[in-house]
Amino acid sequence: MSPEVRRELDYVIIRPHSPDDQNAIEQLHLGNWPKSNSKKDSAPEDLIPEPGETVFIAEDSIGEMVGCIYYFPRLVDVDLHGLVVKKACRRQGIAAELIRVAEEQAQRDGFVRITIEAASKKLVNYYQSLGFSLISNSRKRLAKDIGTKQFAV
Ligand SMILES: CC(C)(COP(=O)(O)OP(=O)(O)OC[C@H]1O[C@@H](n2cnc3c(N)ncnc32)[C@H](O)[C@@H]1OP(=O)(O)O)[C@@H](O)C(=O)NCCC(=O)NCCS
Repeated sequence: MSPEVRRELDYVIIRPHSPDDQNAIEQLHLGNWPKSNSKKDSAPEDLIPEPGETVFIAEDSIGEMVGCIYYFPRLVDVDLHGLVVKKACRRQGIAAELIRVAEEQAQRDGFVRITIEAASKKLVNYYQSLGFSLISNSRKRLAKDIGTKQFAV
C-alpha cells in the first residue's frame, strides 16, 4: 500500500458530533486505527456514543473529518478515549487541539479532572507533554487536573 500523501491543513474546526457523523467516524477509525492497538475503541459497536457521550470532530476547510475524540462524563471526571487523527494530517497539532477542546468542555461542565488511557509507551510520553500524569503504569492510564473555570464577576 502506498503511503498517504501528507496534507498540510490551512485550518481545522472542532465541533460536537451529530448522529449524521456516525458513518464518517467509523470510516476514520477503520482507516487510521493501528492494527497493533487493542480492538478497544475501534470495533463499530464500540464507536456508537453512549448516552451522554460527545464525540468532538475535527474538520478541515472542505468539511472532511480528519480527527475525533470521545468525551464521556462520569461521576467525578471525564474519560477521553477513541482519539484518532487521519494519517495524512498528523503532526500538525490536531490531537492536541482535540484534547484542549475536550478539556475546556470539561471545565465548563464543572469537572476538575480528565483521564485518558495511552495505547503505547510513546503515547504516555505524548500525553505527559500535554500535562497529564501517569496514575496507573500497568494500564498506561493518565489524568490531568484541570481545576475549576474562573468566571469573571
Ligand atoms: C496519536 C495521534 C492521535 C496523534 O495525532 P496528531 O494530530 O498527530 O498529534 P499532534 O500533532 O498533537 O502531536 C503528535 C506529534 O506531532 C508533533 N507536532 C505537533 N504539531 C506539529 C507541527 N506543526 N509540526 C510538526 N510536529 C508537530 C507533536 O509535538 C507530537 O510529537 P511527539 O510524537 O514527538 O510527542 C495519531 O497519531 C493517531 O491517530 N494514532 C492512531 C490512533 C491512536 O493510537 N490513538 C491514541 C490512542 S491512546
